[in-house]
Amino acid sequence: MNAVENLGYSLRSIGKIRPWIASLKTLFIHTDFPSQRFQPCTMSMTMSRRALITGITGQDGSYLAEFLLTKGYAVHGLVRRASTFNRGRIEHLFKDVSRDAPNFQLHYGDLADSNSLIRILTIAKPDEVYNLAAQSHVGVSFDTPEYTGDITGIGTTRLLEALRTIGLPTRFYQASSSELYGKALTTPQNEDTPFYPRSPYGCAKAYAYYLTRNYRESYGMFAVNGILFNHESPRRGENFVTRKITLSIANILAGRQECLYLGNLEAKRDWGYAKEFVEGMWMMLQQPVPDDFVLATGRAATVREFLELALTEARIPFERTGIGKEEAYRDTRTGKVIVKIDPHYYRPAEVDFLVGDASKARSKLGWQPKTSLPELVAIMMEADLKLAGVQKA
Ligand code: NAP
Ligand code: GDD
Repeated sequence: MNAVENLGYSLRSIGKIRPWIASLKTLFIHTDFPSQRFQPCTMSMTMSRRALITGITGQDGSYLAEFLLTKGYAVHGLVRRASTFNRGRIEHLFKDVSRDAPNFQLHYGDLADSNSLIRILTIAKPDEVYNLAAQSHVGVSFDTPEYTGDITGIGTTRLLEALRTIGLPTRFYQASSSELYGKALTTPQNEDTPFYPRSPYGCAKAYAYYLTRNYRESYGMFAVNGILFNHESPRRGENFVTRKITLSIANILAGRQECLYLGNLEAKRDWGYAKEFVEGMWMMLQQPVPDDFVLATGRAATVREFLELALTEARIPFERTGIGKEEAYRDTRTGKVIVKIDPHYYRPAEVDFLVGDASKARSKLGWQPKTSLPELVAIMMEADLKLAGVQKA
């Protein structure tokens, strides 16, 4: 059964289990006492817990779905309709779907469509919701500020409001971002660092951050923000800088691409491994009281350092020539220029330097990143070389 057929099956099977879900309804009734709303319902202790992930087709959503399935959760995912296939990152998870006990179900919906959110929440009745869906590209948010505000900002309102309206005692995770710190006022950044967003994306995430806190304070909801610094993997979107670098180097070695064009090489980011970060998301929802947490590695590197680590990992000997917009990297074996600057990739306002302090997560959650930056580069480079079907130079 392929992924598309599976979605059809999942939707049909939801129809079959609807009466059963209805019989559980009394276990999820709304209570006016906030402290009671933080208690997991009795039934979910004896049954598998249920999670809904928005953004399940993305990098983080796919790792989180895998992680929750291994923990025995029944995982529901919100997927949006696309004209091209957008389930490559989760397709492998369909293999384990059993007709009698479906533990992984997808539902068509969109953060722009409140009714679809209400419908999906009513069907899935999740113990935990992870709101990972977003227009997540900072550069693109300058070109689509209104759309980014609608999905990345107001989309969070739609989901929180749907939860409030239905009255589920669900725990809610909001994917907040280190982009909130933007033109950072202090270094390193922690939960108390003031925000200074530098893009429509950062502004939309700031709105969603405050709204999540507001629903926690106004309605006693267990709603938390994970303020995550950059995290990467072989599943990273191809137009984020790390993946663009590793995939392009592999394609250059395979002879499918001549040159890699990049923007600002001096920006510094705190890059971790996505697989480790999704575990931190889950840990935040297992706490006795709702609170916000930074997840970061505490080390920063420039885009240039990432690029040079990746070239070295691919065993491409290189030399740098020129400066500024004229800068280039030459493969000294072939003499070819393989990296150039394209100002098209400069942003109207840049975030120059982000580095996080995750000591609160370490002490309260017991969360700690393990993968070093050279290890992360090696994991990504190896995966993209395999994808391109080539060896190191
Ligand atoms: P990603 O790979 O870009 O995934 C974004 C997900 O959102 C995709 O599943 C996408 O669906 C979905 N989506 C987009 N618009 C939607 C809409 N209108 N309705 C429903 N779903 C929609 O992002 P990621 O790297 O996994 O990041 C996950 C979340 O964490 C995002 O909110 C991001 O802003 C935030 N974040 C990420 C990082 C990081 O370094 N990765 C750091 C901090 C915060 P399609 O597959 O159909 O496009
Ligand atoms: N995308 C991209 N493409 N970025 C480039 C390029 C390029 O060709 N050349 C240089 N850069 C620089 C950007 O200007 C930025 O300073 C840095 O590389 C990182 O860019 P991205 O990889 O696009 O990530 P981001 O830091 O802007 O945003 C990511 O991390 C945020 C957390 O801090 C995204 O995942 C956001 O969703 C996330 O919130």
